[in-house]
Amino acid sequence: MRSLFLFFLLLGCSHQVRIVAPTVVQPRVAHESVAKSEMVTAQGAGTTRAALSIFQRGGNIIDAFVAASFAISVERPHSTGIGGGGFLLYYHRAENKVYAFDFREIAPLAATATMYLTKKGDPQPLLSQEGALAVANPGLVRGLFEIHRRFGSLPWKETVAPAIKLAREGFPLYEELHEALEDRREVFILDPGARSTFYTSEGRTPNLGTTIVQENLARTLELIADKGADGFYRGPVADAIIKTIRSKRGLLSYRDLRTYSMVERTPVKGSYKGLQIHSMPPPSSGGIHVIQILKMLEKHPLRSLGPQSTEAVHLTANAMQRAFLDRASYLGDPDFHPVPTKELLDERYLSRLSGSIKTRKAMKADQLKAIPLAYESSDTTHFTIADRAGNLVASTQTINGWFGSAVMAEGTGIILNNEMDDFAQKVGVQNLYGAVGGQNNLIQPRKRPLSSMSPTIITKDNGPFMALGSPSGTRIITCVAQTILNTVEFEMPLYEAVAATRIHQQWMPDVLKVEAPFLTPAVEAELREKGHQVVHEKLGCSIQAIRKTPDGWHGVSDPRGEGLALGLN
Ligand code: GLY
Repeated sequence: MRSLFLFFLLLGCSHQVRIVAPTVVQPRVAHESVAKSEMVTAQGAGTTRAALSIFQRGGNIIDAFVAASFAISVERPHSTGIGGGGFLLYYHRAENKVYAFDFREIAPLAATATMYLTKKGDPQPLLSQEGALAVANPGLVRGLFEIHRRFGSLPWKETVAPAIKLAREGFPLYEELHEALEDRREVFILDPGARSTFYTSEGRTPNLGTTIVQENLARTLELIADKGADGFYRGPVADAIIKTIRSKRGLLSYRDLRTYSMVERTPVKGSYKGLQIHSMPPPSSGGIHVIQILKMLEKHPLRSLGPQSTEAVHLTANAMQRAFLDRASYLGDPDFHPVPTKELLDERYLSRLSGSIKTRKAMKADQLKAIPLAYESSDTTHFTIADRAGNLVASTQTINGWFGSAVMAEGTGIILNNEMDDFAQKVGVQNLYGAVGGQNNLIQPRKRPLSSMSPTIITKDNGPFMALGSPSGTRIITCVAQTILNTVEFEMPLYEAVAATRIHQQWMPDVLKVEAPFLTPAVEAELREKGHQVVHEKLGCSIQAIRKTPDGWHGVSDPRGEGLALGLN
């Protein structure tokens, strides 16, 4: 026993993973909460608590947003982090205005359209998924810093503090992180920083419940707390990032880091059943297609057909399919290619699309004639916040695939993204995941890769109604749209709206994915009859939603995930 104790003690000294007896695995988390003043729903209990602690110290919703962003970077290192980027939608109640901020990663200055192709022009998908060449210029820290400077009220340092504590004291290893560590072990373990932070000294994935401590990340966050964005984009952290990238033949340079800038954008907007839907504009495809799906379905009698009826699922799947065809045809970074946002959201155009949905038979993808979509991974993270003044925040953030590029900037605890994989390597050629990409999403220096992230805010009569979002690549769009349909069209209470069966159809591949709890066998048989290729598949969404109630807020964190919805009275 004593020798075992000494063994663990020694292990603890040389190693960042603190091995503790996993008596309690993940405590049962609360997926639903009501409160009068503030509400936070996030994909991690530490993140929700970090944001609430900021309100308790007198901070405002943007302080809480910054604290949640840093905390979730620590708590979900496989799906987001300060080596990545994201989007924020912010409803400012007093101004009755929705702001959209884009701090997505951008292609390095030295990037080229052919950088992943062989001399013969063949794509090499692994190069944009693993290693330093997959890393795009991270935007998260710059975005948080600029947004806080404009809207925050607490000192910057105080907003970073909860994340430093979480990184230093650690949290129990939970199922999804365990799965990600196991899934990417062979690659991730090759990085010395990743190995010492996340695996045992023998290179095994630690047991569930093991405390995950990220001391190097805590020190990096301290630098950022002291120096602001310069703590990341200049000085020792920048040196470590560039040294690592150079040693692994990546493209990111000091100039890239120094010149990263966040962009304020105009949210896309559409009316649906008397509500105003505000969502993320390009370079995300998310907002446009959430609104398109809702508008195409608006005039169809879904409620009388019933939420999981053959007809309602058929119509919804067709609307999704039609929206995704537009995604493949028109979307990209608006700073590089004109995106016809106004035309794609035009009432008459959407009415024509709606009219073209065949009620009897599923459309085959090749009948719709266009080019297929770029692959996107199922990762990323989302949180939603509301405060007593009626302000709302919906933010989706990512390093793209699980553990991004699987490269850590030496000594910093920063996992660098693989967001370059959200670009198309080449038009019309399938990548590793069986999808192909479009012209507007080819790589160019400083361009932002196309995203599906759809932080969404809904207002009614010039006041807050709901805010939501989700991780999971292209599925984000359809999961967000279905949660809105469930709430507004089917009048489900928020928990049921989030927990209900979900489907996904993204034009290519031409299949109708159904996630547990499945549709009834009879409905699935009828859908097959109509020509849908029905498959059962986990979609990976984790909706984090908050709805206004007469007394305050109702928050729901998707019961499929390990999040926490919690409020303050
Ligand atoms: N990397 C996932 C997305 O941006 O949609």
